[in-house]
This record gives sequence, structure tokens and C-alpha cells, in this order.
Amino acid sequence: MENVTFHDHKPDTLSLYDAVVQGLSKRQKSIPPKFFYDKRGSELFDQICQQPEYYLPTVERRMLEQNAAEIAELAGRGRVLIEPGAGSASKVRLLLDALQPSAFVPMDISFEYLKSSATVLAEEYPWLSIRAACVDYTHSLPVPENVPQGSRLLFFPGSSLGNFNKQEACEFLRLVHNTLGRGGMLLIGIDTKKNHGLLNAAYNDAAGLTAEFNLNLLHRVQNELHADLDPNNFSHSAFYNNQAGRIEMHLISKLKHTLRIDGHAFDFEEGEYLHTENSYKYSPDEFISMAALNGFQSRRYWVDDQGMFAIYLLQSE
Ligand code: AVI
Repeated sequence: MENVTFHDHKPDTLSLYDAVVQGLSKRQKSIPPKFFYDKRGSELFDQICQQPEYYLPTVERRMLEQNAAEIAELAGRGRVLIEPGAGSASKVRLLLDALQPSAFVPMDISFEYLKSSATVLAEEYPWLSIRAACVDYTHSLPVPENVPQGSRLLFFPGSSLGNFNKQEACEFLRLVHNTLGRGGMLLIGIDTKKNHGLLNAAYNDAAGLTAEFNLNLLHRVQNELHADLDPNNFSHSAFYNNQAGRIEMHLISKLKHTLRIDGHAFDFEEGEYLHTENSYKYSPDEFISMAALNGFQSRRYWVDDQGMFAIYLLQSE
């Protein structure tokens, strides 16, 4: 394909081994959520996105479809469009015709996944110049040198900002601000605060896919690190922590036991929590204030009729 190039920025990030050994050595044991996404984890996440309880992608897609023309009107056409964590780039397809970007820069941590999804996109959109970059966006956002000059628009859907803690979210917004420069724009989708029953159901789907997704982390540790561990010793737990304004996901040890990895031994008490993910929810006021503190001014935002999800268009100052 002539309209696509690939750039491997060789993300220099903590390996699964280092992250697991560090995380399990802490008093409150934890493993960072980015390790959910091996091949199986990515498949499970795609299936979660089709569950009726996990409303986020359905509502966001509908909102993008309904508002694509207005978004393009406000942002202007012909920008360089950047999407960290693009994956299969399914949501951006709802915007490409309206936005007519001068180039699209999908970024993903998995080079294999990026190559195949960018190739499919290039075939579908022969007019689009695609500059795909293998990047770990939790650390940096290097934009390939061969992108056109001109103003940029960064698209960050799916409420992925919610998986950062508040300090990390601010650091990420700063990083985006530096990548965009003055006049750049950010289009970001973020889950709202709402009825706790709806939030709890979204992370405890009846089909058990979120539970499988959470437990898959242990299967990964078992298979890739040859750990002496039985995933059946743990159960899935997800609940809304109202004080912190976030869904917390944990794996709870069903019994007192020891998990071993390469000479390290990690003791678990019965009922002990291994923290695997936070998913912060933001009211529009909260998010707009946080964005303002990190160099962004809100141009317009959209909330669906039921207040389930919000999309913000912000300008970098
Ligand atoms: C990717 N991220 C925004 C999802 C979320 O809702 O926090 C990951 C997820 N975890 C459980 N279900 C979905």
C-alpha cells in the first residue's frame, strides 16, 4: 500500500516480569492494567464492548455519528489526526470523511496489531495518508517525522483517560498539550458519574466476560512467566468507589496460598485483594477544570440524553 508507512518507536517500557514482581512486592498488591491486552485480552475486551451492560462504546459511537459534522465544523478540516491506542481504529472511521485529515497517525503498543489494522484502513481509505507508529502512550507520544506540517487534532475515545489516576491523567494531558502545540485540538470521550447500579453492572456483565478479562491477567502471568500459580485461586471483583469516583477492579484470593515466580514467593491471605484497574468517572465540570489546569480550553462538549457519556472538544492554549 502506498498510502501507509510504519514507524517503530520501540516503546521502552517495563516488561511484564518487572511489572508483576514490582507490583506483587507492594503491601497493596497490584498489576498495571495495560498488561490486560495480550491477544486474548484484546479479544475479550472487544467482546466486553458488545455486552449490553457495557454501554460506553455504544453510546460514544452514536454520539460521534450524530456530531461528526459539527466536530469537523469546529475543528476545521485538513488537520493531522493522531490517535493514541488506536487498536482496530473503528471509532475514527466515523470521523474520517467529515474531518478529511491531511494525515492519520494511529499509535498502538502492539506493532503486529498496528500493522494489520493500518493496512486494512489504508485499503478502505485510499485517499488517506497513514503514518502508523508503535508507541506506548503511557510514556510518550512521538509523532513520525514524515507527517505534514500544520495543526493537529488528537482523538482519545473510549474513556481511556479514566484508567490513569488523577496525577497520571494530568501528566498525560500535559504530554498531549506538548504534542499538539498551541492551537492544536483534543477530542476526547470520557465516561460520566452516574447511578452506581449502572456503573457496577457495566463491570460485572452477566456473560462473565469482564471476569474472564480480569482473570486473563493471571493466565498471562502463568503462561508467559511460567509462574507457579492457579488462576482458580482468585475471583473477579469490580465495584464503584464513590469517594474516589472510580470503578475498582481486583482479583480476590479465595484462600491463603503462595504464588511463585522465578525464585520470588508472594504470600496471599484468604480474601486479599490484588488491584488490577481503576476506571475514573468524571462529571463535565470536573473534567473541564482538570483540562484547564493542563493548558486546554473547552470549545464544546456533548452529553447524551441520559447523561451516560461525554465527548469534549478542547483547544490547546
Ligand atoms: C479501556 N478502558 C477504558 C476500559 C474501562 O472501562 O476502564 C477497560 C475495561 N475494564 C473493564 N471493562 C473495561
